[in-house]
Amino acid sequence: MTLNWDDPLATPISRVQSRPELDRNKSVTLITDEAVDQREAVEQVEKNKTKLSLEYPASDTHFVQSLTFEDSANDPDSGSQRRATHPTQEASSTQTPPATLRASLSARRREEGEQKPFTPMKPINSEDKRVINGLGDINQLAPFKYPWAWEFFINANKNHWTPLDINMAQDVHDYHHKLKPEERHVYENVLAYLTTSDILAMRNIGLAVMEKMTAPELQIYQARQVYEEALHTWTYQHCIETIGLDQSEIYNRYRVVPEINQKIQIANRRLNAVMRSDIDLRQPDDLQEFVLSYAFFSGIFEGCWFYNGFSPVFALQRRGLMKGTAEQLQYIMRDEVMHCSFGIRVVRQIMQEENVQLDPRDIRDMWDEAEAAEVAYSKFLLPTPILGYSQQDHHEQFRFIANRRARSLGMEEPFPGAKNALPWLDEQSNMRKEKNFFETRVTEYQTGGALKWE
Ligand SMILES: [Fe+2]
Ligand SMILES: [Fe+2]
Repeated sequence: MTLNWDDPLATPISRVQSRPELDRNKSVTLITDEAVDQREAVEQVEKNKTKLSLEYPASDTHFVQSLTFEDSANDPDSGSQRRATHPTQEASSTQTPPATLRASLSARRREEGEQKPFTPMKPINSEDKRVINGLGDINQLAPFKYPWAWEFFINANKNHWTPLDINMAQDVHDYHHKLKPEERHVYENVLAYLTTSDILAMRNIGLAVMEKMTAPELQIYQARQVYEEALHTWTYQHCIETIGLDQSEIYNRYRVVPEINQKIQIANRRLNAVMRSDIDLRQPDDLQEFVLSYAFFSGIFEGCWFYNGFSPVFALQRRGLMKGTAEQLQYIMRDEVMHCSFGIRVVRQIMQEENVQLDPRDIRDMWDEAEAAEVAYSKFLLPTPILGYSQQDHHEQFRFIANRRARSLGMEEPFPGAKNALPWLDEQSNMRKEKNFFETRVTEYQTGGALKWE
């Protein structure tokens, strides 16, 4: 069987690219499709340059250039666009292949690089690094300025699992034969909320946050975090598939249930505010917006809403129900606690380095809005209590955890006097294992000690 090197999962192809290491007895010249494409493209460019300069007056160089640079490598309509903008290039419009732009640009970039003489650079001074707005070398990991970020990365790799490691057979039986309707309502909506949220969390860290970091040790952990968010999404999908829930219905709930949609909209608004292409973290307003957004995502979205979001399923687990799903969520929760801690630490570092002073009204608004959304969500989730868990428990636990996150952020407690309504939650989430099956995974992966939760 011969692999298709462009797509190893595709059906094997009959046209074989020679690979010398696979046939050492023959003298073979390795010619790849890419090399052929590039050679043909370069030849075509040279032909077109000649033809264009023959067909148009020398003074029309701007138009000739625009033909070269406005053409799109992937745009099948690029020829018709040229016909629409110039009355006389009918003949030439079919002579410039889509590969023109790719070859032309790559050749120009290579030439630009070759024209610069190599100059050895000064060694990196780690003290010059900054979390954002730094001018250091983003490609050089060490020496570290933020060794704690590297430690986060090392520790994150100790919490490795896949959803396939956990036996879900009993959950299928529990869901269909043991759960009461109100418990199924809780279970389904916890999954519906979490799966939409984790996609959003992945986009936030991967698209809005990571690109703004200017110290590679921070990006390394965030790259792991992006993967973990994707892994969490896989986990929810695995639960939804295994239980046999209607995928379309579950994934659409955030679009039709206002109490779920409200939380997603709040997060989307924060995300969109810092994904603007014109955001400039050297400007105080933009910088404050970014700090507030990262504080929201790490302290509330991950630190409160996710943390609190798992607890209804843990309440079922305590009664011996949906234990497979709960164990999946324990692994996710462990990741999320690290995401929360890391994000809060980065936020504090930025505030210190950039001398950021947040408006207390913005902070108060953030907590109040988050609480109102959580109250609405909990009323939808638990219109009637399930055994061992009520809407009031959920709300009070949110306030209690919010105080914990605020202290970590160096902020005042937003809800003084809030009680620990679920005193079993921290211990539950700390993954004490009672089953032999799970001990196996722990022995293999959990080489680190128990995480601290505060
Ligand atoms: Fe996640
Ligand atoms: Fe996360």
